[in-house]
Amino acid sequence: MTNDVNKKPVLVTGGCGFVGRHLVNKLIKKGNSVWIVDNLFTGWHPDKWLRGYDRKEDGNLIKYTKNGIEITFIEADALDFFLDEIKSRPKIKLPAFSDVYHLASIVGGRALIDGDPIQVATDLAIDSLFFVWATRNKEKIERVMYTSSSAAYPIHLQSESNTVALAENLIRFDHGMGLPDMTYGWSKLSGEYLARFAAKHYGMHVACVRPFSGYGEDQDTSYPVPAIASRIAKRENPMTVWGTGEQGRDFVHIDDCIEAMFIVLDKISDGSGINIGTGKLLSFNEIIRTFAKIEKYEPSIKQLLDKPVGVQARHAHPEKIFSLGWKPEISLEDGLTRVLNYAKENKTFEV
Ligand SMILES: NC(=O)c1ccc[n+]([C@@H]2O[C@H](COP(=O)([O-])OP(=O)(O)OC[C@H]3O[C@@H](n4cnc5c(N)ncnc54)[C@H](O)[C@@H]3O)[C@@H](O)[C@H]2O)c1
Repeated sequence: MTNDVNKKPVLVTGGCGFVGRHLVNKLIKKGNSVWIVDNLFTGWHPDKWLRGYDRKEDGNLIKYTKNGIEITFIEADALDFFLDEIKSRPKIKLPAFSDVYHLASIVGGRALIDGDPIQVATDLAIDSLFFVWATRNKEKIERVMYTSSSAAYPIHLQSESNTVALAENLIRFDHGMGLPDMTYGWSKLSGEYLARFAAKHYGMHVACVRPFSGYGEDQDTSYPVPAIASRIAKRENPMTVWGTGEQGRDFVHIDDCIEAMFIVLDKISDGSGINIGTGKLLSFNEIIRTFAKIEKYEPSIKQLLDKPVGVQARHAHPEKIFSLGWKPEISLEDGLTRVLNYAKENKTFEV
């Protein structure tokens, strides 16, 4: 069943974060009511981005309504929320859900992933409690999406001397495993492993996505694209870059990323993970140069060699996602122009 015709609400954990806000926005446009569980660790309170809705506080919930659509916000830590559910001491009576998108996660840019790996490992606990809850409530859930990441791929395939377009079959749970990217990558790998069990052992419809570098207008400036945009907006010269700037990533605009998530959930049900990437490897220096071209100036680039940089080159083999009928609609130039305009105007993201 697709979202368009299913009128049971959708649950989005981490729905106040960057990906979550865009996902909720698109779900609303498709006519879905949505429940959000988020502890606002990095997420934005819905009061900031749900405008023009009737707002009513009801115990531990805030309900926002407009045109027959209801958004229910539960401000809670996913750890407490799912543990209370599992221990049969729920604080809130949940409805049956059509789709459940599990996004809640400690993510962050390189500074957090490299700088506080044990805090990031909280994700292991969030994901395991989530899947215990989901499998115990499988009769009340039609489909589950687990947001994995390209960070789950073995890092030895992303080095200067060995750069491989990362295809799905480079992660094989029945075979030897390569080392993923820090505890963040481990949590995504183990989350995918649980997703497979939920599908195969418990008979649930589950899909995983492995987004590469999602970017967009309202992304936190601890991520490279909005950080670079804010400095380009001030026409900084020289422009600083972490490391040599020759590290490469596969950049996908968030709007394209969300469309891919919908397609994957419609077409994948066995818990397997699908890349969301364009297949194009672009360095941070190229991102700076593209921004500078849009802004029509020519800054010099100053390297900050003491900063964390992560792997040298990470890009998708996009054949699988292309074969499912997705292709990116937003060119890099258009996407970066949007981010730059947003940085200049300091607009507020609204649903
Ligand atoms: N943005 C990308 O390019 C990208 C790439 C690959 C994977 N992902 C995955 O997509 C998901 C969303 O990422 P994002 O970029 O929107 O990050 P984000 O930090 O903006 O969003 C994460 C959300 O989870 C919430 N959260 C964190 N810990 C929580 C907890 N214990 N309980 C409840 N809520 C909690 C945060 O408050 C935030 O709203 C994550 O699972 C991430 O791993 C994102």
